[in-house]
Amino acid sequence: MNVRQALSKTIEKLKNKNIKTASLDAVIILKEALNKDDIFILSNPDYELSKKEVKKMEAFVAMREKLYPIGYIRGKKEFYSFDFFVNGDVLIPRPETEMLVDKVLELSESIDKPVIVDVGTGSGCIAVSVAKFLSDAFIIASDISYKALIVAKKNADNLNVEIELIQADTLSFLKKKVDIIVSNPPYIEEGRFDTLQEDVKYEPKEALLCANGTDLIEKLIKDSKELCSYLVLEIGENQENFVREFEGLVEIQKDFANLARMAVFRFD
Ligand SMILES: C[S@@+](CC[C@H](N)C(=O)[O-])C[C@H]1O[C@@H](n2cnc3c(N)ncnc32)[C@H](O)[C@@H]1O
Repeated sequence: MNVRQALSKTIEKLKNKNIKTASLDAVIILKEALNKDDIFILSNPDYELSKKEVKKMEAFVAMREKLYPIGYIRGKKEFYSFDFFVNGDVLIPRPETEMLVDKVLELSESIDKPVIVDVGTGSGCIAVSVAKFLSDAFIIASDISYKALIVAKKNADNLNVEIELIQADTLSFLKKKVDIIVSNPPYIEEGRFDTLQEDVKYEPKEALLCANGTDLIEKLIKDSKELCSYLVLEIGENQENFVREFEGLVEIQKDFANLARMAVFRFD
């Protein structure tokens, strides 16, 4: 089988499963199976796959046919232009979360040696990306999940940054005021799990779900009041009105789809 045939066979199989990103996924799968880049895949249609490469490709296609997320198949996801290792213990970083990194970097410009806490760090995508740009900052990344912290540590090491890792429930570990708290907490109502896209259901429930959707957001806003100058929070698309009820809100930012996705609080 050559690359051209492998691509068309994979696209057909994925289309049969109603996967809208079939063509893109097929290129990614081939890339991973052959350990090559996009350019090689797209410019070498006659390259003959070895038996080992065909087997690898078929295993990846079988996973994708079951809607297993492409990020977990690849074992990585690009975020803020860096490659983050991901596995089933962490949420696959989303592009809208890059807004939080932008905001933390912007706020840090006016702070000398900022102390920054990333609550619910998961893959470490926020904390590590911020650390890549702020060599003088002290960055703490916490998560309730020990397995997530192992992934965050691997990413900090891979990307050559130093961050402190702490296993803790929300802000329970923090005894002194810091400059910035940033968090992308779980914010989907537990009752909505069945309505999620099938591939999202493979991601850790503790990364997605929170009893009524706003419990953790509310706790973080209330606890942060005494513990930081700024709180930068990712919120669900229907949670703008909820966060507007709290004192200290200075900004709501929308994503490319014009949905409110980030709330910034200032506490003096
Ligand atoms: C939506 S994910 C965000 C992961 C990563 N920060 C990102 O943006 O891709 C939420 C993370 O919060 C963690 N988490 C859930 N409940 C928590 C709690 N009570 N305290 C601390 N972390 C929690 C989960 O384990 C998960 O890693």
